[in-house]
Amino acid sequence: MAMTRREFVAAGAAVGAALGGGVVLPVGLAWERDRSGSVIAVVARFPDVVITDQGSLVEGEPVWFSYPSEGQANMLVKMGWPVDHGAGPDRDVVAFSTHCTHMGCPIQEFSPATGTLGPCPCHFTTFDLGKDGMPAFGQATQHLPRVLLRLDGDGVVAVGLRRPIYGHSDPLHGVAVRVLEST
Ligand code: FES
Repeated sequence: MAMTRREFVAAGAAVGAALGGGVVLPVGLAWERDRSGSVIAVVARFPDVVITDQGSLVEGEPVWFSYPSEGQANMLVKMGWPVDHGAGPDRDVVAFSTHCTHMGCPIQEFSPATGTLGPCPCHFTTFDLGKDGMPAFGQATQHLPRVLLRLDGDGVVAVGLRRPIYGHSDPLHGVAVRVLEST
């Protein structure tokens, strides 16, 4: 049976995710095929990026990194107590975008005592990282985008994002995906 052939190509597939150390990895591509083996779609996926290793994490000390593309800022922290969606044996490692969900201002303050990110320099929102990035005070009404984590040996790996970054409506946050052919 004939199938609709659609090919998606990730424009800017070379756009990568950059670590603090400057390592740039390509956005992942996956080929989907019909029963005959013909390619029916090429789909861009979030890259897997090693952020750090578990052994180097210190409770309450954030690790700042870009994901999925350079300039899209995030922070990872070992909170020191079990939290919602926490990774690791103590279920206390989480990572979030640091772009405020109110109007996108960059947040660079973290309080290890309360586990909150903020206050945002623009309108003072703080976010509770122990409660999935929920706004705890201020103007924002949306949770922070959470970086999905996978533990790979000692490595802490970013594998995706839950919720969009402020100002980016596409799922890959700036990596445009466009249809090249549809028959
Ligand atoms: S941009 Fe952060 S509170 Fe307004």
